[in-house]
Amino acid sequence: MIPEPAPTVRELLAFYLEAGVDCALAEEPVDRLAELDVPPPAPRAAPVEAPRPVAAPAVIRGEAAPAPDVAIASAREAARTAPTLEALRELMQNFEGCALKHTATRLVFADGNPQARIMFVGEAPGRDEDIEGLPFVGRSGKLLDLMIGAIGLNRTTAYITNVIPWRPPGNRTPTPQETQICLPFIQRHIELVNPDVLVTLGNPSTQTLLSTREGIMRTRGRWFDYDTGQRTIRALPTFHPAYLLRSPSYKRLAWQDLRAIAKLLAGS
Ligand code: URA
Repeated sequence: MIPEPAPTVRELLAFYLEAGVDCALAEEPVDRLAELDVPPPAPRAAPVEAPRPVAAPAVIRGEAAPAPDVAIASAREAARTAPTLEALRELMQNFEGCALKHTATRLVFADGNPQARIMFVGEAPGRDEDIEGLPFVGRSGKLLDLMIGAIGLNRTTAYITNVIPWRPPGNRTPTPQETQICLPFIQRHIELVNPDVLVTLGNPSTQTLLSTREGIMRTRGRWFDYDTGQRTIRALPTFHPAYLLRSPSYKRLAWQDLRAIAKLLAGS
């Protein structure tokens, strides 16, 4: 068999990009294999085939992340005590229980007007949001701005955030554990903003916040009650703008949802 030629640096970089690796975490590369404390393999008399590469372990810089149930309990305890949005932002900034914090560039807390009557909640920041530190500033954010603009809203009259405040590496789907760890923060966030209308954008945000297992095709356009513990808020799931960019034919249904929101805000 003719051996494959070694990949060029350009090919390797293209592979990493396709795999979702689009940011460097440090200035210098780290040889994770060299960190493994394994004895060198015993010499073989006659190698039959090339050894398979050893998979590098997932190494988290600094302290090991706490067990998920410990992290969830500590997020609950911390979030409960935040008296204001500023205090909530600060304690999330200092929270060490979610491993996503270590791979993200920064916390993406929120954008818009905290006095707004309407609050939009997406899933998690992407690359652009991670760079800017604000939710929904990339392509789907531009569409979200157009959607809310269609019912006379903008970032001075609406409040926007995400369930997960740190970008998952390579925009992968957050794990159920990561979502559970971040849940007390977004719950307290909603309680502190206390909007009249909560709009969940897409399936993950809808299922997490409205405790439903139904998919977005069934939940969108249906009013739910969201109980903060202090008050019941009207909540409406609709399509995530990223989904609408991929499936523009659903914009017609999203428009119906927006009209329902405008009607509720107008008090009719
Ligand atoms: N998608 C989200 O769910 N949130 C963002 O902030 C950006 C993209």
